[in-house]
Amino acid sequence: MILTGAGVSAESGLGTFRDVDGLWSEYDLEDVATPQGYARNPKLVLDFYNARRANLLSATPNKAHQALARLASQHDVTLITQNIDDLHERGGSDDVIHMHGSLVESLCTSCSDVRDWREEMTSDSTCPQCKTVGSIRPNVVWFGEMPYHMERIEQVLPDATLFVSIGTSGAVYPAAGYVAACKQFGIPTLELNLEPSDNAFLFDEGRYGPATDIVTRWVDEMILAKIGNA
Ligand code: APR
Repeated sequence: MILTGAGVSAESGLGTFRDVDGLWSEYDLEDVATPQGYARNPKLVLDFYNARRANLLSATPNKAHQALARLASQHDVTLITQNIDDLHERGGSDDVIHMHGSLVESLCTSCSDVRDWREEMTSDSTCPQCKTVGSIRPNVVWFGEMPYHMERIEQVLPDATLFVSIGTSGAVYPAAGYVAACKQFGIPTLELNLEPSDNAFLFDEGRYGPATDIVTRWVDEMILAKIGNA
């Protein structure tokens, strides 16, 4: 079971949230990542995500995304991400569990239609399903909203043989709680991050450095071990 955060996409040029120059140092998350902020000023929120979507569409997956896709060809991997980018998919992973939603999907607040959406989103955007004007928002889970796929994640967790957390600060629940849950099930835990996260002390092992380096090395080790045991 692998959990990724913004750090896995940092070397693709996408901002993280809590690093020194992170998104939450530029924007107040209350204004751009809460239902209340959206109700107060939908244009500010839509423009915030339009800018991130444009940045994403010009970004490319990095070696860490590609390594995780390679890993899944040799091991049974459940890939859960807090990220709303589609770089895991563009790096070759499929069935990625996006617990915080997706920057390249729309959600209609009238009919709940969710679909691929890669263009600008404005207050005049019309739902292709119910034709309501102005009901389209990013299909992104905001603070105070329920993350997606929680049941599926809770089903998978107890059967994991290894839990690996990659590129996340361990600051936001429920994702930040998975390492403790895995420990209760006696599942070995590994953290791969630029630097020790807030809950680094909970992991059995930690390897620190840029994801394109440490994730790639770890995946190569895992694949060699698998071949060695074949
Ligand atoms: N390689 C590996 N790790 C990196 C790199 C890198 N090149 N650059 C940064 N990191 C690490 C940082 O050290 C940090 O621990 O990635 C982590 C990013 O942490 P956050 O910015 O807090 O991002 P994340 O953990 O994904 O945030 C979780 O919070 O704001 C919400 O919904 C948002 O999904 C997000 C959630």
